[in-house]
Amino acid sequence: MTAVGIDAIEIWTGKLQLDLPETFAPAKGEDPEKYTKGLGLETSSFPDAYEDIVTMGANAAKRLMDREGLAPDDIGRIDVATESAFDNSKPVSTYIAGCLEQVYEGDFHHANKGERKFACVAGTQSIDDAYNWIKAGRHRGRSALVIATDTALYARGDPGEATQGAGAVAMLISEDPSIVELSTEQGYGSADETDFLKPNQQFPSVDGKRSMQVYLARMREALEDFESVAWDTHPEDFAYIPYHTPFPGMVRKAGLLGYRHMIRDTEIEDALEGRIGRQPREDDFDSWEEYEEAIRGYMDDLKGTEEYQSWYADTIDPTLNISRQVGNWYTGSVHIARASALRHAAENDVDLAGQKLLVASYGSGAQAEIHAETVADGWREQIEALNIDDQMERRYDLSYDEYEKVHDRHNHDMDVELEEFTQPEGEFVFTGWGRMSERK
Ligand code: HMG
Repeated sequence: MTAVGIDAIEIWTGKLQLDLPETFAPAKGEDPEKYTKGLGLETSSFPDAYEDIVTMGANAAKRLMDREGLAPDDIGRIDVATESAFDNSKPVSTYIAGCLEQVYEGDFHHANKGERKFACVAGTQSIDDAYNWIKAGRHRGRSALVIATDTALYARGDPGEATQGAGAVAMLISEDPSIVELSTEQGYGSADETDFLKPNQQFPSVDGKRSMQVYLARMREALEDFESVAWDTHPEDFAYIPYHTPFPGMVRKAGLLGYRHMIRDTEIEDALEGRIGRQPREDDFDSWEEYEEAIRGYMDDLKGTEEYQSWYADTIDPTLNISRQVGNWYTGSVHIARASALRHAAENDVDLAGQKLLVASYGSGAQAEIHAETVADGWREQIEALNIDDQMERRYDLSYDEYEKVHDRHNHDMDVELEEFTQPEGEFVFTGWGRMSERK
């Protein structure tokens, strides 16, 4: 059976940054450690005046196509995952294809284009669609281009404001992939929820605290569903577990939940029994509330064990390195987490080929998807070609006043006069609503 998966990846960060401890915390009168230690964030990315979801997506796609030596004829499908779209009819992929057609010979008239929406999980859903399209043999030898692009902004004063971010991840889905091979091992947790929504509005209406509970509940369901196809899941089975990362503090909670789940009835639980007891079983309690309280106590104890801490340091923490510097990218977030883990492995000379990743995606509304991937032979070369460190380093550091203007402008307030803080360098730039972006 032909392997199908992620063959190439490119990341494009918005070219501005807001420093949370240095700039945001003093303006808000908050302790900087709330952001650095509590949420786990250092800086957020924002788009410059000439950037938006189209330009960031097109710029990431162009870097990917150039690096892979691709022409439009090699791509049979372009799907954009976003929750920041500005057009309820024409998909963002048509705007991005329009950009790319300005610089390559040929066109994308043959390509099936679409826009995928289910909050942050839509990036992974687009990859699933591409996988199914190739596996069904409908691709005629072509690859799929999946682009996850968002400006993740909250109203000023909303608790979510600290978790903002903006950027795009472009991924090529092909046969015989270089980075990871996808599998049929997959599980879902999905329910109609209203803790985070954007009905015809740019900034979400969000109940932040409840959104964290909903994230964890759907993730637990997805893990259970995953185990129905890949049962006997053990924490040591996976080199890394990239989670959807709205902020690293959320992943601290999700990682603990996943670990507890995976050690049930294993030798790890046996080894911990003398120190923290066995996990509470639902049947042993008269009410759900008592069971939940017992679980909370067990989790607190588990968090303090050496076994858990060393697993977390090896398997989860490396997935958070990029996210700490860029914030939440919504649809791109879990794909940044995967890239961050692979970059960590490359830097530490780890031989990852053949090892497994467990990828835990999530989107508000709400749905979690857990799936397994196997790292392919060409992963290192692909990851070493990324220039995300350089891009992050070169971001313009906003003052708080400048940040407020940028924020207003990206709430589609075109009356806000905004200077450009950086210069475009041979890239697509935004030229006005309803018009195609151009390359400058
Ligand atoms: P908040 O209420 O301002 O923060 O906002 P807090 O008071 O809960 O503090 C946050 C953490 O910092 C806590 O840690 C504090 O203890 C700690 P925890 O107890 O949770 O481990 N803290 C400190 N630590 C050290 N020194 C200090 C200090 N002060 C506090 N001085 C909230 C937090 C998450 C509610 C807010 O950021 C928010 O509303 N975010 C947006 C919603 C969100 O990201 N939800 C996450 C799950 S839903 C999701 O992931 C989907 C999403 O990506 C959208 C989509 O799918 O489309 C959002």
